[in-house]
Amino acid sequence: MTSPTTGADPVIRVSDLQKHYGETRAVDGVTFEVAAGSVFGLLGPNGAGKTTTVEVLEGLRTPNSGEVRVLGVDVIRHPDALKPRIGVSLQNAALYPKLTVVEVLDLFRSFYPTGRPTDELVALMDLSEKRTTRTQDLSGGQRQRLSVALALVNDPELVFLDEPTTGMDPAARRSLWDVVLGLKSEGRSVLLTTHYMEEAEVLCDRIAIMDHGRILEEGTVDELISRRFHERAVRFDAIDGLSDEQLAAMPGVASLKHEDGEVLLYTGDVPATIGAVLDASEALGMEPANLGVRKPTLEDVFLDLTGRALRD
Ligand SMILES: Nc1ncnc2c1ncn2[C@@H]1O[C@H](COP(=O)(O)OP(=O)(O)O)[C@@H](O)[C@H]1O
Ligand SMILES: [Mg+2]
Repeated sequence: MTSPTTGADPVIRVSDLQKHYGETRAVDGVTFEVAAGSVFGLLGPNGAGKTTTVEVLEGLRTPNSGEVRVLGVDVIRHPDALKPRIGVSLQNAALYPKLTVVEVLDLFRSFYPTGRPTDELVALMDLSEKRTTRTQDLSGGQRQRLSVALALVNDPELVFLDEPTTGMDPAARRSLWDVVLGLKSEGRSVLLTTHYMEEAEVLCDRIAIMDHGRILEEGTVDELISRRFHERAVRFDAIDGLSDEQLAAMPGVASLKHEDGEVLLYTGDVPATIGAVLDASEALGMEPANLGVRKPTLEDVFLDLTGRALRD
């Protein structure tokens, strides 16, 4: 990196961003900040406005209103000042179909005064066997990997990855996760969009949940979950002879439900509830089968926020 970002200045500062396409409010008042050296995720379903937001931040689209500072640059006024310092992996990158992997990497690198060697990027993105393959003959996952490699040619301090693992098999997805965590460990900042809960949970220091052009909630995974769900669920296979009244009176239990032959006890005190379940079943000469604790996930947060599931 040529000029590492230091101190507490956020690398991205977006304030009340609006981008409309005719009647469609693709981005409808979005505000957030991304701290230097962190991975920030925009999580939301198709059509949420993630790509539009990212493209404004990259200086590729002019918003209707709002303020956008990226690496201290006012992107709306000076998009060209930003471009050499960021890396961009577009969701549907046009990749010069007739050029090979190595040729397209060399071409992109020639746009910049300095950069990372092509061989290093080929190895990093696991494309060694495809060096001389034309981009039109790559699989979807290989194109995605090339697109990420292209985002890194100029050794950027801030990298934008728009749905980087869509179309990848699980192994490729995991190796891309390692690349993202590697960028972070080098002190770079990453803004990524995804509709995969697990990806957001694994990679992101902070997450903004987006839907219909708005950010519904922002925070760390733990914050997002604990803001909404104060209880965990203790679960076990239903036991004949344990009444709902008895279960509801157990210490910590706030509510309960039955689901597919299981009892779910929502509790603010997991150990006390488990202790009471064990005591009560022992009194009946039983042992609770499949006893476990279910922690709420980001999926539960999304469902609670929108009334819909965000399916992987
Ligand atoms: N160039 C465009 N012209 C018109 N509508 C668009 C354009 N790009 C995106 N949209 C609309 O804006 C909304 C947000 O799209 P997008 O930012 O691509 O969402 P996401 O990346 O979260 O799937 C969608 O309703 C989409 O149809
Ligand atoms: Mg998109």
